[in-house]
Amino acid sequence: MLQNDLILRAARGEKTERTPVWLMRQAGRVLPEYREVRAKMGGFIELVKTPEFAAEVTVQPVDILGVDAAIIFSDILVIPEAMGLPYKMVEARGPWFEHTIKSEADINKLRIANGVDDLSYVCDAIRLTKAALADRVPLIGFAGAPWALLAYMVEGSGSKTFARAKKFLYTEPRLAHMLLEKITQSTIHYLKAQIAAGADMIQIFDSWAGILSPQQYREFALPYISRICDEIHSLVPVTVFAKDAFFIRKDLANINCHTVGLDWTMDIAESRALIGADKTLQGNADPCLLYSDLDVIKSETEKMLRAFGSHRHIANLGHGLYPDLEKEKVKFFVDVVKEFRF
Ligand code: CP3
Repeated sequence: MLQNDLILRAARGEKTERTPVWLMRQAGRVLPEYREVRAKMGGFIELVKTPEFAAEVTVQPVDILGVDAAIIFSDILVIPEAMGLPYKMVEARGPWFEHTIKSEADINKLRIANGVDDLSYVCDAIRLTKAALADRVPLIGFAGAPWALLAYMVEGSGSKTFARAKKFLYTEPRLAHMLLEKITQSTIHYLKAQIAAGADMIQIFDSWAGILSPQQYREFALPYISRICDEIHSLVPVTVFAKDAFFIRKDLANINCHTVGLDWTMDIAESRALIGADKTLQGNADPCLLYSDLDVIKSETEKMLRAFGSHRHIANLGHGLYPDLEKEKVKFFVDVVKEFRF
């Protein structure tokens, strides 16, 4: 039995003594303890693929920051790799794919990933993490949304506009759907394997949601996310985080997720009105708030907590932690949430 299941209860809409809190990108570069482990490894991908070390950095923020959940240390790009499209993580630049998807033949060459065999290293890391956590807090598993993964698989790297990926949607819609279908099936296998290995909750990251039009989002992104939710929502609580997609909040009320992630551009009261009372909301402090003085962090965080209210809220930032944030200020944010009472 979990000693602290606040996040799971909040996701299911049950009462909690206080608002639970975790941080996107909590396992990473704001912790010197992470950088130490990272330096021992050849690189980021080696760390992701070595379950003992992946488990170690997954547990670090629970010990050091006191967050109410761990999130498995991995990356959304493990799915393209398992499908046959490997990536490199270039220092200070981000992901890079040697081969990209351009044609039907490229899509036909891709495998549908099988979570248990192709991604066994993630499942091993989950099992080791669960043992190390010893039921202190839940473990969050995750995957990229199909559109976010298509974006990288077609573009080949990060981009401000993802113009190549968006061009693919306009000029090759049939192929885009073929690719999204394969990614979706892979993701369902992968998330079910994460849950079988011990993940207590799942988050779907749609990091480039906000660069599609509402019409494109409804055609190329939402139906695939919705199918993934249908497959796993009866197993564990599911969070959908569609970054910058303010226009899709009303639609998210109607899919089988428990929680909707908000970024800091989304007004809290307006989001609640659009999404309704039946979903939990997660977020949504601006990561840059954590560059402020402590009194500003405290007053803005408390303002945010009051705006969300005592029920159906999981406190987080509106996106991941930036690498140059000070660990003490990050911990202060966590403490402000944990000490606040309505
Ligand atoms: O949240 C956590 O602490 C868990 C681990 C996690 C990572 N990536 C580790 C990581 C999670 C949940 C992700 C998700 C991810 N990866 C997303 C979705 C979330 C988001 O930020 O929108 C995306 C788009 C990626 C792809 C990716 N991975 C990029 C663009 C980059 C480079 C830029 C950057 O932020 O560093 C990565 C690398 C990455 N993933 C790092 C970490 C800790 C840094 C690598 C390093 O240590 O050198």
